[in-house]
Amino acid sequence: MTLDPARHRGRRTSRLRGVVLTVAAGTVAVGAALTLSGTADAATTLGASAAASGRYFGTAVAAYKLSDATYLGILNTEFTMVTPENEMKWDATEPAQNSFSYTNADRIVSQATSMGARVRGHALAWHQQQPSWVQSLSGTALRNAMLNHVTQVATHYRGQIYAWDVVNEAFADGGSGARRDSNLQQTGNDWIEAAFRAARAADPNAKLCYNDYNTDGQNAKSNAVYAMVQDFKSRGVPIDCVGFQSHFNAQSPVPSDYQANLQRFADLGVEVQITELDIEGSGTAQADSYARVTQACLNVTACKGITVWGIRDSDSWRASGTPLLFDGNGTKKQAYTSVLTTLNGGTEPSTPPSTPGSPSTPPPSGGACTATLSNNAWNGGFVTTVKVTAGSSALSGWSVTVTLPSGAAVTSAWNSQSSGTTGAVRFANASYNGRVTAGGSTEFGFQGTGTAPSIVPACTASLG
Ligand code: G3I
Repeated sequence: MTLDPARHRGRRTSRLRGVVLTVAAGTVAVGAALTLSGTADAATTLGASAAASGRYFGTAVAAYKLSDATYLGILNTEFTMVTPENEMKWDATEPAQNSFSYTNADRIVSQATSMGARVRGHALAWHQQQPSWVQSLSGTALRNAMLNHVTQVATHYRGQIYAWDVVNEAFADGGSGARRDSNLQQTGNDWIEAAFRAARAADPNAKLCYNDYNTDGQNAKSNAVYAMVQDFKSRGVPIDCVGFQSHFNAQSPVPSDYQANLQRFADLGVEVQITELDIEGSGTAQADSYARVTQACLNVTACKGITVWGIRDSDSWRASGTPLLFDGNGTKKQAYTSVLTTLNGGTEPSTPPSTPGSPSTPPPSGGACTATLSNNAWNGGFVTTVKVTAGSSALSGWSVTVTLPSGAAVTSAWNSQSSGTTGAVRFANASYNGRVTAGGSTEFGFQGTGTAPSIVPACTASLG
C-alpha cells in the first residue's frame, strides 16, 4: 500500500495545532505544570475518544473468547459497541426450523450490557451461514421461513439492539449492479423490503441497516445499493442506516472517494456506519490507512461509529494479514495509536488527566455559570454532554457536579477532570478550557453505565 502524502501533511498540521494549544494555554496561567498537561486531557481509549464526538467505537466479539483474560480486558477497556461475530447468524440462532438457540448471543449481549456498551445485531438475513434446513427450502416456504426468522430473533432482542444488519451482502460483485443470485433473491425481488418491514414491526426502536462489502467507494455495486436506499426512502420502506464493511488490503485499499461515498449515502437521510473494519498490512502504511478511515467517519456527521472486525490480529477471520489494532499478544499497534490520535483531533495520547485541584487548575468558587445536560442513552448505558455557560462575567475556571441516579457510574470522561464515579460526581475544567468569555460556553462529556442523569447539574465558577 502506498503512503498518502496529503494525509501526511494533515498529520503534521494536526500535531502543530496541538503544540500551539499547549503554548497558548501556558500563557494564560501557571507555566510549566500547565504546559505539561496541555495534551493531558485527550481521552485515552478508543471508546472514550469516539464518544467525545458522540460516536461509538466497536468490535466484533466471539462468545468463546470471553474467557480469555487478555481479550476480555481489552474489550472492557476500549470498546463501546459490540457485534457478535457469528452468534446471531441464522445457523447459530435457528439451527432447526422454529427451534431457537440464543445462548452464545445472549452471553455477548450480557457482556455488552455489563460494560455499558451497545450491540449491533448481525445479521438477520444473509445467503451465507444458513442452517442446512434453510438451504433445502425455496419459494414461499423459504420466504416465510426468512420472515419468521427475522421476526423471532428481532423480537427476542427487542430493546437491546442499537442497529440490526437486517440484510447482509445482497448485491453481486463486479460491474452488473445486479442483486446477488441467492436463494433468498429467488423468492422475489421484494425480499429485502419484506425483511426490513418485519424487523421494524418486531423491534421498532432498533435502527435497521443494509450492510455490504466492496461498497466503500463509488462503483457499480455501491451505486446499486444507493439506488435501493433511495427507492426505499421514497416509498417509505423502513431503513435507517447503511453499513460499510470496509475490509481492506493491498488488492482492495481504502478508496480515494471513501468519505465522499459515505457522504452521498448520508445525504439520502440514513445513518452510515463502518461495520467490519480491518486493513491488512503493518507499520506506517497500515496506520495511515486506519487514520484515513477514521478521519472520514469524523468528517461525515451521519457517520455514527466504527466497528473493527476483531480485537487482536490473531482474532481476525484473516489473521495472516495482521489487519487489526492489537497484535497477537494484545499489545497496541501503530495502527491503534493512529486511530486514537485521529479520534482525539490530532492530539497524541498522553498522561492520564491530573487530579482536580492540582496547581494547574485555579480552584473554582462562587456562582456565575450554568450547566445543561444532553444525553444519548441506551439500554444499560449513556453518553452525556454537559454545556457550561458563563454569565455576564468571564470565567477563569469552573466545576460542575452531576448527580447520577442510583446504580449509574461514570466509566470515562473528556474535556474535564472528574472525581468520583457514582453519586455526586464532580467535573472540573481541564487545563485548556477553564477560561470562558462572558456569555460564552464550553462542553465536556462523560460515558457511563446504568441510567443517564437527568437532574440539572450545579455549576460553580471562578471569575476573572
Ligand atoms: O464453529 C465451527 C467449529 O465448530 C468448527 O470446528 C470449525 C471448523 O472450521 O468451524 C467453526 O465455524 C466457523 C465460524 O467462523 C466460527 O469460527 C466457520 O467454519 C467459518 O466459516 C466462520 O467464518 C466466519 C465467516 O464470517 C463466515 O462467512 C468468520 O468467523 C466471520 O468473521 C465472518 O464474518 C463475515 C461477516 O459476517 C460478514 N462480512 C464478511 C465477514 C468476513 O467474512
